[in-house]
Amino acid sequence: MANTQDKFKQVISHAKEYGYIFGSSEIYDGLSAVYDYGQNGVELKNNIKDYWWKSMTQLHQNIVGLDAAILMHPKTWKASGHVDAFNDPLIDNKDSKKRYRADVLIEDYVEKLEQKAQKEISKAKKRFGDKFDEEQFVSTHPRVVKYRKQSKEILERLAKSLTEEKLADVKALIEELDIACPASGSRNWTDVKQFNLMFGTKLGASAESASDLYLRPETAQGIFVNFANVQKTGRMKIPFGIAQIGKAFRNEIVARQFIFRQREFEQMEMQFFVKPGEELKWFDYWKAQRQKWHDSLGLGKENYRFHDHEKLAHYANAATDIEFDFPFGFKELEGIHSRTDFDLKAHEELSGKKLQFYDHEEGESYTPYVIETSIGLDRMFLAVFSAALQDEELEDGSSRTVLKLPSILAPVKAAVLPLLKRDGLPEIAEKIVEDLKWDFNIAYDEKDAVGRRYRRQDAAGTPFCITVDHDTKDDNTVTIRHRDTMEQKRVKIENLKQILTEELSYKKWLSA
Ligand code: GAP
Repeated sequence: MANTQDKFKQVISHAKEYGYIFGSSEIYDGLSAVYDYGQNGVELKNNIKDYWWKSMTQLHQNIVGLDAAILMHPKTWKASGHVDAFNDPLIDNKDSKKRYRADVLIEDYVEKLEQKAQKEISKAKKRFGDKFDEEQFVSTHPRVVKYRKQSKEILERLAKSLTEEKLADVKALIEELDIACPASGSRNWTDVKQFNLMFGTKLGASAESASDLYLRPETAQGIFVNFANVQKTGRMKIPFGIAQIGKAFRNEIVARQFIFRQREFEQMEMQFFVKPGEELKWFDYWKAQRQKWHDSLGLGKENYRFHDHEKLAHYANAATDIEFDFPFGFKELEGIHSRTDFDLKAHEELSGKKLQFYDHEEGESYTPYVIETSIGLDRMFLAVFSAALQDEELEDGSSRTVLKLPSILAPVKAAVLPLLKRDGLPEIAEKIVEDLKWDFNIAYDEKDAVGRRYRRQDAAGTPFCITVDHDTKDDNTVTIRHRDTMEQKRVKIENLKQILTEELSYKKWLSA
């Protein structure tokens, strides 16, 4: 895979070719930033959900689940701050009539400065070879120093203007940097305006009586409004958590990068309620726990990094992103936020209902503080899928494309292949499928030469191939081939279930 753009294109086309992801309503030319998950995609997605759900609810005695509705009382979004502040700054180009996120135009400009700096660095690397001292070079080379200084100043000014809601200054910055419309090259811009990202809809049949609703932009608020229900009926004691997986909707303006930024997506969120004053201890605990969860899947430690927020949202007292090295660079995969008592207090105020915890030991009531872990299911899908997709040169000079999905997440766990379509081999293979299908998702494939079938299963991400040949008829053994090593072992048919059970055990994976 020559460069990151090629790799990204390969990810998108492979996801389509192998039934993982299709554009939404493609026969009508699709719907921008909305995607459908195909026959393999839905299995991978469900397996990621299970892996997260089990690690949260089954492995923690003090975390329970919830499935709140997508539609919620509109006051929810007033209390949470989404009605007033869930905005993106927009700018239109008067000539091309194209609409952009003003901050993204500026960030793209900064990205170009960084690319120029990187170009200087790689030129120097080539020139100086082993003697190259990158740290010294970037701190002294005049052009690199200039690009980096300029980037820093631009980003600081942008952050300040956005925080202080000075949208005129954001426009002034676009003009000073001489940023042109990427579509037309025109610099004829409108003013910058705030645009709310929530999708609105109506509840009720007649136009007069219908009331305005929103499709939820995050699942978290379903948890907050149910805090007292779950705490009381589950007799939960602080600290405890509520986990939820579900759809969220955002009218994203810059919707690009495939399933990374969609208008309809899924979140896996967990709100952990703690005693005030203990939140930073739990924040560190959840940072470590979530990193451990990611590490257990073996996608490569080097593909992850934490990005602590310097500028915190008004309700947070600590926040970090777990970033992943996607084909287009390191970007946010998961957020871990210490949200204080902001949400519970805001709902308490607007609803008039008490959302507190009575601590029997202390003999007092208090509003718990909250640590939130929030990961986009689709982003996790993209992380797993893009890290797994590899082109390999083999020892015999040939090459293969292989999707090295962690076997615990793979859509199909094993493919059973009769070596030939005759001599009773298909019947034995079908019997093996019949035995194993109760515990595992198993495929049967008898078309083409066995080598081609192996390649097909490698590319589809199937971790094991079980081949039935003529020896099977004599001694009841088959070969089991491992996708990643291509190693083949002869095993007894009666041991297959045990072998797959051990390989695909949640305990083995989640405690890794
Ligand atoms: N409750 C907190 C919250 O929603 P967020 O950072 O806005 O925080 C959390 O979103 C996660 O949801 C992100 O880290 C990302 O993985 C995912 N996410 C957010 N917007 C998304 C979008 N438009 N498409 C896909 N995933 C998205």
